[in-house]
Amino acid sequence: MTEREEVKIEKLQKLDQSTLERLVEIYMRGYEGMREYGGEGESYAKRYLRWCWGKARDGFFVAKVGDEIAGFIVCDNDWYSKYEGRTVGAIHEFVVDKKFQGKGIGHKLMKKCLEYLSGKDIELWVGEKNERAKRFYEEYGFREVGKHGIWVRMVRRKR
Ligand code: ACO
Repeated sequence: MTEREEVKIEKLQKLDQSTLERLVEIYMRGYEGMREYGGEGESYAKRYLRWCWGKARDGFFVAKVGDEIAGFIVCDNDWYSKYEGRTVGAIHEFVVDKKFQGKGIGHKLMKKCLEYLSGKDIELWVGEKNERAKRFYEEYGFREVGKHGIWVRMVRRKR
């Protein structure tokens, strides 16, 4: 990725086989070194990403560098949180391909997500030892509100 290459954030139009395979690749590579929090295996990743598409396709945003998908975020505007006891916004998945991490693509995806879920409380779950992602979320006003096993629940209250 050169300095001048533009990053575009787009709503995913369709989840065809080649797109799904690219997303699985990003997911598996993105979680390298953190297998307990994602990337248990490719077949799990495929099933999970298909579930995300079925549940939240209007909020399924991809970052593109040229024609290549570099990362994605899945934002749900209609998630029943049993912990909150009501419907909130949620981030089901957020990952940038390892080779594209640290270049500001995550910030661009998060900005899009916050626009899409504006006016809502937003819930997400992140691995307890995933310090970089937790710090990233804290920058956007997410706070740890609970824990379940190896997962931390974070919520950003609407403003
Ligand atoms: N080493 C150190 N710091 C880094 C690195 C790196 N390799 N990469 C990024 N950073 C810093 C950046 O400097 C930046 O700091 P800043 O906020 O002070 O500017 C910050 O981390 C993030 O910057 P971006 O480049 O915009 O983020 P990125 O494109 O890397 O995406 C993400 C962030 C999605 C968390 C990515 O790191 C990733 O895919 N991680 C693995 C998957 C993951 O943990 N996802 C979240 C799980 S929780 C869930 O999905 C609900």
